[in-house]
Amino acid sequence: MKYYIGLDLGTSSLKGILANAAGSILRTCSADYNVLYPAKGWTEQNCADWLTALEKILPPLIDGYASEIVGLSVAGQMHGLVALDEQGAVIRPCILWNDGRTEAETAYLNETVGREELSLRTGNIAFAGFTAPKLLWLRKHEPENFARIAMILLPKDYIVYYLTGQFSTDYSDASGTLLLDVAHKCWSREMCRVCGIRIDQLPPLYESYQPVGTIRPEIARRFGFNPDAVVAAGAGDNAAAAVGTNTLTHGSCNISLGTSGTIFIAQSAFSVDPNNALHSFVHANGGWHLMGCTLSAASCRSWWLESILKTGDYAEDERGVTTVSSDPDLYFLPYLNGERSPHNDVRAKGAFIGLTATTTREQMSRAIMEGVAFSLRDCMEIARSNGVNPTSTNLCGGGAKSAEWRRIFANVLGLDVHILTTEQGPSFGAVLLAMVASGLYPSCEAAAGQLTSVRETIRPDPTEAALLSEKYRTYRQLYPLLKTLRK
Ligand code: XUL
Repeated sequence: MKYYIGLDLGTSSLKGILANAAGSILRTCSADYNVLYPAKGWTEQNCADWLTALEKILPPLIDGYASEIVGLSVAGQMHGLVALDEQGAVIRPCILWNDGRTEAETAYLNETVGREELSLRTGNIAFAGFTAPKLLWLRKHEPENFARIAMILLPKDYIVYYLTGQFSTDYSDASGTLLLDVAHKCWSREMCRVCGIRIDQLPPLYESYQPVGTIRPEIARRFGFNPDAVVAAGAGDNAAAAVGTNTLTHGSCNISLGTSGTIFIAQSAFSVDPNNALHSFVHANGGWHLMGCTLSAASCRSWWLESILKTGDYAEDERGVTTVSSDPDLYFLPYLNGERSPHNDVRAKGAFIGLTATTTREQMSRAIMEGVAFSLRDCMEIARSNGVNPTSTNLCGGGAKSAEWRRIFANVLGLDVHILTTEQGPSFGAVLLAMVASGLYPSCEAAAGQLTSVRETIRPDPTEAALLSEKYRTYRQLYPLLKTLRK
């Protein structure tokens, strides 16, 4: 028999899936790690913690199957800066996708280098979490570290490097660096010059489904892997999730509700949002996509439950939410970590608005779910204004486990919401990429077409959808109003 591994290097944990050639999931394992907050608005992770998590999940994941594993692939959190020295050692902790320290560098890129120039070179403008502004920050604030950089990787590429000994990245993840010419799928020399790096400090580029190499002999021996097991280049987590939910044809849409929330719309050809509020990135199937990213999505719910209410009982919260209807005057702004799309504002703040003495916890929990959905509707409205009009969406990620949240999404977006039988998203997408890389399927379309199916479709309820659309009109006005109060 042949087996496949898909890994998802997320923000809070590393998740792994073992699947057989029929796409059945035989095992899942995960290990958590911490996000470090070295200063307000900064987020980092120790790359060594990712390897510790990998070494923890591999034995229980592959035990009894290791020698029959023929393909492996890694999906991962995007945009993080992993800087390696001449010896391949990590220079400093990875600066994550939701880090907000680069306000000045982002402004320099957008205003001095210029949005038009950036969009022409890369298909995108600068957002604080992207890799290029982080390089500028490092050059200014940690010149000794910057001078030691021999190789720049994205988080999942570091895992691929550990497994294969090869430097690589894939186009989908490279798109989020602001160093890739997305339209032509090559590193941009102009952007390297702007960031003060050489092109040889960037890894070779692959399609996500292409093999990068095989497992290093030392790792193969240690875990009992078949040394011929192929490791695919892998993908950014959102592109991998889109493969895992069969979001591949032009105009199809996937929403990932993880720490971040993303709207991902597959495109068969390169296209750019004229205002660059949506990202224009390469897809893991070789095509392209448009994407909007709200920085805090399921993390708003974990903040509310775990940090504020001091409970881990999500099921009880879910039951409570189903007992109340939407309070038409109660709003939640989900900007707990600043906001990416569409506001591009590291200083945006979260808020509850419309509290009264009779407001209940259940209403506040519901308002949080609505607020996250409204912020993704902001992204959907931009797509719609560009003539991109999905008629339904897939939904995956941890947040998609909440039945009430699924209904809220259907009603806020006015779209049919599909839940797949394999709702793992990125890690299942990584399994499919491993299958293509090792030759089981000729393409992502063939693999996802064969191995994914819709389990449930939630249709919008016209009365609820009308009420939430009315609320959305007010929601849209709140962020600009609060911004005017800033010192
Ligand atoms: C996408 C983004 C996030 C991370 C989270 O642009 O920054 O979705 O990939 O894992």
